[in-house]
Amino acid sequence: MNSTNDSLKLAAAQRAAAYIEPRLSRESIVGVGTGSTVNFFIDELANLKHLFDAAVSSSEASTDRLLACGINVVSLNASPRLDVYVDGADEITSERNMIKGGGAALTREKIVAAAADEFVCIADISKRVDRLGGFPLPVEVIPMARSLVARHLVDLGGKPIWREQTVTDNGNWILDVHDLVISDPAEMESRINNLAGVVCNGIFAQQAADIAFLGGPDGLVTI
Ligand code: A5P
Repeated sequence: MNSTNDSLKLAAAQRAAAYIEPRLSRESIVGVGTGSTVNFFIDELANLKHLFDAAVSSSEASTDRLLACGINVVSLNASPRLDVYVDGADEITSERNMIKGGGAALTREKIVAAAADEFVCIADISKRVDRLGGFPLPVEVIPMARSLVARHLVDLGGKPIWREQTVTDNGNWILDVHDLVISDPAEMESRINNLAGVVCNGIFAQQAADIAFLGGPDGLVTI
């Protein structure tokens, strides 16, 4: 990742930290996503750790970074309600529908997002698209169902590629679906989730972001 992109990600992360700061209380639980943009956010969150109780993390990698920053991490089962969830995206539209899962953490991300009152997306402006699908759609599958699911994804018009060497935090595998036409994101999200063997797919339309901060060369863009 180049340093220009890093500065745009940092700007988005700093904006998200400023956005959530007045919303935090000593009882607040903050949901934290996964990825290089979120890593900048975790570093910002460390400066606010006296203002909230704990974080719920969407991946082992983010947990490690949160703990290294001295932020208390609790399980989702111990915290039924989260004030806010902050995460990156691989693509985002003007309706704040997203593709996520480039880092293979999509299932836990979708779970933690579902438990939060508000989803704040942070990204650099290169992630903004008119239509989802340019980025290959990650689909987490039960390993024994990989070929079965892949055949169904071909029937849907996609070209699934097995992300070999990758095992998710849940012990599953990832298919990256290229060339899928996603004209109705919420409908496609349901359709893929209904395939036997699919754990979760990376379309976040039924749980779109509530607000997005995108770092751009001319400043931050808020959607
Ligand atoms: C992780 O599985 C993803 O959903 C990330 O949120 C997404 O890939 C964005 O990552 P970056 O911030 O590294 O671009």
